Amino acid sequence: MSTDVSVFEIELPYLNTEGMDRQSAVQVASEMAHDHWLARTDMGYAVLHYRDAEAILRERRFFSALSQIPRLNGLEGDYFSRRRQSILTTEGDEHTRLRRLVSPAFTPAAADRHRSAMRRVFSSLLTPAIERGSCEFISEVCDPYPIPIICEVLGAPSTDWQLFSSWATDIFKIFNGNLVEDLPAIEAASEALNEYVVGMVHERRGHAGNDLLSDLIAAEEAGDRLSTEELAMLVEAVLMAGTDTTRNQLGCALAVFGEFPEQWKLLVKQPELVARAVEESMRYLGAVRSTVRVASTDISYRGVVFPKNSLVTTHLASGNRDEEIFEEPLVFDITKTRTNQQLTFGSGIHRCLGAALARAELQEALSVMAEQVGEIEFAGPVTWKPASFGIWGPAALPLRLLAR
Ligand code: HEM
Repeated sequence: MSTDVSVFEIELPYLNTEGMDRQSAVQVASEMAHDHWLARTDMGYAVLHYRDAEAILRERRFFSALSQIPRLNGLEGDYFSRRRQSILTTEGDEHTRLRRLVSPAFTPAAADRHRSAMRRVFSSLLTPAIERGSCEFISEVCDPYPIPIICEVLGAPSTDWQLFSSWATDIFKIFNGNLVEDLPAIEAASEALNEYVVGMVHERRGHAGNDLLSDLIAAEEAGDRLSTEELAMLVEAVLMAGTDTTRNQLGCALAVFGEFPEQWKLLVKQPELVARAVEESMRYLGAVRSTVRVASTDISYRGVVFPKNSLVTTHLASGNRDEEIFEEPLVFDITKTRTNQQLTFGSGIHRCLGAALARAELQEALSVMAEQVGEIEFAGPVTWKPASFGIWGPAALPLRLLAR
């Protein structure tokens, strides 16, 4: 007979971060993690330790809660029932099939093909800032950086960057908590993108290029292939999941280097530390704080039963400060060898598909910058996006850049 107890019946601390800025909210969660692995929240429950976050994300019966966004906003039917599934919300065998087909197109080697384009785009944004000696790093450098890269990766012509940018902005409104009002713009952008991508797919079927879309079209396993509809879904997922994340993570990284300028000088002196610098800044200040799962059935974990439909937040930021996993987790040190991976790309079956691409983009940005900028310092106060944002980072980051 099982001795597991329902999560309803156990006494749990209440993690209430309402009204707090994001850093304080993460601090409160990681302090609570000293004594508890699990907490109650407004929405459901939160797991606070690295190993538990990893285990919940690897438990396939916990589904991504992204599919619940319309329901949580009181919206169901019509648009959302017509809207196709995204890789982010697909589960089970269907998800396994998609990941198996697409993974070879997202390897580090595939991402490496685009490193020179990354350097070119980043340099073109940084040069005017260096010439002036200062900049507002978010609007001038971070925001415009990822879209041209995604277009380059997909093989879309550079003349269409603006189109992609405006579609991404409108589709992103899905996360603004104002779905009723924003729905027409979201729907129009999603349909326009779909039409564009279907056109690209037809073109590429005859003439394969050295790009992600051509790789996805060619992807085949045991006679199985992606349909045109699935290809369009993947392009939308890449645009949605790969732009705001990267620009915010770059902003977070530079905000951390601004706080610890001696670490920047270390990177300038030892550019071979760039890969570690990216991992350490993602661990220390991740653009994605947490990701939410919903129990698809009653699930028992560590003797606790989470009934069907329970919402469980896996606290990636608190896991990234777990003392059992990271020595001196509150220290930002790009020279430290950390044996465990930071959690900001998530874990389990939905773990970031674009991790290799994101790493390459961040590494190239930091290395171009370290080649040209000897010292950085804040040129004014750093302001931050609201703590409630799922993808988060500085809203404004005024930096003084001292050319080498
Ligand atoms: C620093 C930048 C990035 C961060 C912090 C990040 C973070 C994440 C996280 C945490 C997840 C898992 C979400 C969950 O489990 O609920 C995820 C999934 C995903 N990411 Fe990223 N991401 C980044 C960049 C990118 C890029 C550049 C791409 C484009 C190729 C991308 C494409 C995806 C896709 C398609 C998924 C869904 C995978 C699936 O559901 O199987 N991401 N990302």
